[in-house]
Amino acid sequence: MSNDLSDHRKTYAKFELLEKNCPKHPISLFKDWFSFADTSDLVDEANAMNIATIGKDGFPKNRIVLLKKYDENGFIFYTNYNSEKGKAIAENKHVCLSFFWPALEKQIIIKGIAEKVSEEMSESYFMSRPDGSKMGAWASHQSEVVDSREALDDNLKKIEEEFKNDKIIRPKHWGGYRVKPMSIEFWQGRPNRMHDRIRYVLQKEITWKLERLAP
Ligand SMILES: Cc1cc2nc3c(=O)[nH]c(=O)nc-3n(C[C@H](O)[C@H](O)[C@H](O)COP(=O)(O)O)c2cc1C
Repeated sequence: MSNDLSDHRKTYAKFELLEKNCPKHPISLFKDWFSFADTSDLVDEANAMNIATIGKDGFPKNRIVLLKKYDENGFIFYTNYNSEKGKAIAENKHVCLSFFWPALEKQIIIKGIAEKVSEEMSESYFMSRPDGSKMGAWASHQSEVVDSREALDDNLKKIEEEFKNDKIIRPKHWGGYRVKPMSIEFWQGRPNRMHDRIRYVLQKEITWKLERLAP
């Protein structure tokens, strides 16, 4: 198999995104697109999104997390506050989320400000998780170097023993972030690389300016 990918290309022609079909609020459009992706048999884990943070070392870093809730106030995901992303957000709360659903030829890019959700919200979501995931949150010091797979599995065994007869409480270092959007770009693939790009930019905390970007 060749490692030359220069002929790997595809024509995008399934949908279009025109201003006349764009609602005033980007969350309405996000809801339409997300529901479509989430109910499509062609899309797996529609709520998997990329989050880019800027580390103390000046490098951006991307990784996937799961969107767990969204509304006008923002996009919520859960993680370990002591992880690499948690430390990056503590230093610089500007983040970028993105979704790509190849089967729908759609991409969404959200620039926003990350803030921790309330303790109550983290608590309530943590309690809704399966016991295995709850214990995993205790057993894994996310983003830290570990000696071996065995060391990780041993940690989990210790935690299982510890909570054998007790309710699994939430570690304080585990919780949610809400990303408050400042701009949301909707990208729809079109033929001849003449894609539709519509960006909403927040104006004075209330209204959204809509603009078309060149593909
Ligand atoms: C499909 C998918 C879903 C994931 N969901 C989460 C998540 O919701 N929260 C999380 O902390 N990590 C999640 N991860 C793991 C992250 O991508 C990442 O490895 C982890 O958060 C550590 O990142 P960091 O070291 O950059 O902080 C997910 C990975 C994949 C592939």
